[in-house]
Amino acid sequence: MKKILITRKLLRSNEEKASKLWEAKLNLNDELYSQSKLVELSQGCDGILTSLTDKMDEATINKLPESIKILSNFAVGFGNIDLVAAKKRNIAVTNTPDVLTDATAEIGILLILGACRRASEGIQAAKESNWKWSADYLIGKQLTGSRLGILGMGRIGQKIAKIAKSLGMIIHYHNRSKLSSDKEQGATYHDNLKSLMEVSDVLSVCCPASKETINLINKETLEYLPKGAVVTNVARGDIVDDEALLDALDRRKVYAAGLDVYKNEPNLNPGYLKHKSVFILPHLGSATKETRTAMANLAIDNIEEFFKTGSCKNKVN
Ligand code: GLV
Repeated sequence: MKKILITRKLLRSNEEKASKLWEAKLNLNDELYSQSKLVELSQGCDGILTSLTDKMDEATINKLPESIKILSNFAVGFGNIDLVAAKKRNIAVTNTPDVLTDATAEIGILLILGACRRASEGIQAAKESNWKWSADYLIGKQLTGSRLGILGMGRIGQKIAKIAKSLGMIIHYHNRSKLSSDKEQGATYHDNLKSLMEVSDVLSVCCPASKETINLINKETLEYLPKGAVVTNVARGDIVDDEALLDALDRRKVYAAGLDVYKNEPNLNPGYLKHKSVFILPHLGSATKETRTAMANLAIDNIEEFFKTGSCKNKVN
C-alpha cells in the first residue's frame, strides 16, 4: 500500500477515499505546515498531495526523501511548486484542471460585478444603515456595452467570456496564440498586451503565474488602460504589482478593482483594505462543495494513475 502525505484537510468524502486507497497521512487539524515540517512528515512516503499554500521551492524539494515520486497539487495553478527542481529530482507534478473552471469563472464574474457596481461601498453602507436612496447614490459602471479584456483565454477565461457576453459585454482577449473560432465565440484577438489593455474598460486577469507573467500588470502596463478602467484578478496575486495598482486607483486612472488572489496570501497589501473602490474576496475561486470534491478526487486519481502507469495526463513537468 502506498503511503501518501496529504498536507491540508480535505472534505470528508475525499479523505475517506484516500484512506481506502493508501496509508494516508491526514492533517486532521488543518495545520499550515512549515517547509521543514513538510520535509519531516514526508519521510517514508511515496507521494504528497500538496495544496497551493505549500511553498515547494527548490530548497524544500531537494530535502524531500528519495521515496517521494509525485507532488499532486490540489489546484489548477502550480506556481507554488518549482517544476524544474522537481524534474531534476525525477518527481512528477500534477494539477487539477477542468473541474474548477465553472466555479472560478463564477467568481471572476462576481469580481467584475462587485468592482463595477461598487459592492464594497454598498455592503458597508447597508450594514451601517447609513444610506438613503437618491438618483445619484453609489452610481457604478454598467456592464452592458462595456468592453471586457481577458488576459489569458484558457478554460477559465473562455467561461468568463461566455457569461460576460450574455451580460452584453464586448469581449477582447490576449493569449499566446489565437484560438479557434468555436473557442473564441466572436471575441477579438490581440497579439500583444498593450493592444488588449487599450480597449479594456474592464480587465480580467485569468492567466497562470509564471516567470513571464509576474508583475505583468505594473506601472507601465496600467497606463495602457483607458482612463477609469476596472481591473480584476481571479488568477494569481503575483501577476499584479500591488503598489502600481493602488497608485493607479489613487489617481483614478483605475476606477475600481476586484480581487480574489494576492501576493503573500492571506496577508494582502494593507492598501487594498483601505481603498473603498476595491472589492476583495479571500481566494474563493474554486470554493464550492462540488468543485472542491471534484478537485480532491482528481488529485487522488492523479496519484493512482501515476503509480499504475508511470505517468499521468495531468502531469505538468
Ligand atoms: C485555485 O486557485 C487553483 O489554482 O486551483
